[in-house]
Amino acid sequence: MHDVLPVDQPTWDVIREAATSLAAFYRFSRIQTPVMEHISVFQKSEGEGTDLMEKEMYSLKTKGGDLLALRPEGTPPVMRAYLQHSLSRLGQPQKLFYMEPMFRHDNPQLGRYRQFTQIGFEIIGGLNDPAYDAQVILIASHLLKDSKVKGASLRINSVGCRVCRPNYKKALSAYYKNHEKELCADCQNRLKDNPLRLLDCKREQCQPFKEKAPNFLDKLCAGCMGHLKEVLEYLDEMQQPYRLDNTLVRGLDYYSRTVFEFAVEGKGSEVGALAGGGRFDYLAETMGGKPAPAIGFAASFERIADALRLQETKISPKPVRRVFVAHAGSLAKRKAFKVLESLRLSGIPAAEAMSRESLKAQLKAADKEGAVVAVIIGQKEIYEETVIVRDLTNGLQETVPAPRMLEEIRKRLKASSG
Ligand code: HAM
Repeated sequence: MHDVLPVDQPTWDVIREAATSLAAFYRFSRIQTPVMEHISVFQKSEGEGTDLMEKEMYSLKTKGGDLLALRPEGTPPVMRAYLQHSLSRLGQPQKLFYMEPMFRHDNPQLGRYRQFTQIGFEIIGGLNDPAYDAQVILIASHLLKDSKVKGASLRINSVGCRVCRPNYKKALSAYYKNHEKELCADCQNRLKDNPLRLLDCKREQCQPFKEKAPNFLDKLCAGCMGHLKEVLEYLDEMQQPYRLDNTLVRGLDYYSRTVFEFAVEGKGSEVGALAGGGRFDYLAETMGGKPAPAIGFAASFERIADALRLQETKISPKPVRRVFVAHAGSLAKRKAFKVLESLRLSGIPAAEAMSRESLKAQLKAADKEGAVVAVIIGQKEIYEETVIVRDLTNGLQETVPAPRMLEEIRKRLKASSG
């Protein structure tokens, strides 16, 4: 787990702003679920043989004997909340958005953290409409572009439905059985438990078999094929480039039909997929609810920030034109303290270096802050009920009556922006 330091915040701000403005435009409502859930929320949905369930879940037994897990991802908790609170009654579909910490007990490395903050968009309920697959894919693409990631490309595939997936699994198992002895130990197990995962393997020794493996697209039923075609037509219409990738199956059991991932090539590719998602039309039923078609994706602040760093994209804090409040003497310090508060009430950004007593040191701090105007208060000004307003861009200053201070400051801030 890691710290996100002040120096990282300008990047996080850009990503957060991109996510929240997309959520606002596409009418997604924010949802927050607890960091812990009963472990069954994940067991039921992600699948027993998955890495997430077997290796990466932080789980604990409470004093009362309940088995809980720190959420490794947002989709099952959001579906649990959708079902538990009958959110379908509020209108169909429900568009839900989250920005929450997730936890996976993985080997910490570039792009992989044990605590990370996922941005997720989920559309649940209504019709199984390919337009929503395309909308969610476009949102993921916009999120990366608006976060200043360069050159993210989209891979897409269909993993079929209850009707056609078993046929594909059979074909895949038959093909891999011929190569069983040459596969890595994990893949030999996958062949027994979950043949689709064979396509997920990253080991060198298993790569040659992937290339010649049967193609899912050849086994899709008419419904799934039609769905995929329509999604691709929407993407073509929006000139969103994609690559159909038969080996993309994603590491979670709840997906059906559309699955997709965005990643960058070249610099930044080391972090892995920046965003990933797909349809999860059966999850509501698997979790004991009424059927509800669904599609969504998630991305993490950390992975996007790592990619930006590798692409050498520097994000600096937005410059703010500030007023610096300085004092000379202890009585004036009290007055300056009050002036700072009056600036806050008037919505004027301000700064101070109260703990420095010398005016010279304070003005040096003003320079470091990049302040454009200073309000200086000394003994004389208190006595005369005035303040000194100094234009820090040219050093010109004026003594103004205290009641006119705000007006003078506003004038100078406006002039400096011109
Ligand atoms: P996922 O592919 O496991 O899918 O994760 C989605 C995104 O979360 C990844 O593309 C990556 O940006 C980020 N991520 C995953 N693991 C880590 C990690 N250890 N450190 C940093 N970032 C990470 C899901 O979680 C699905 N719930 C996505 C989804 C939503 N599918 C449908 N709706």
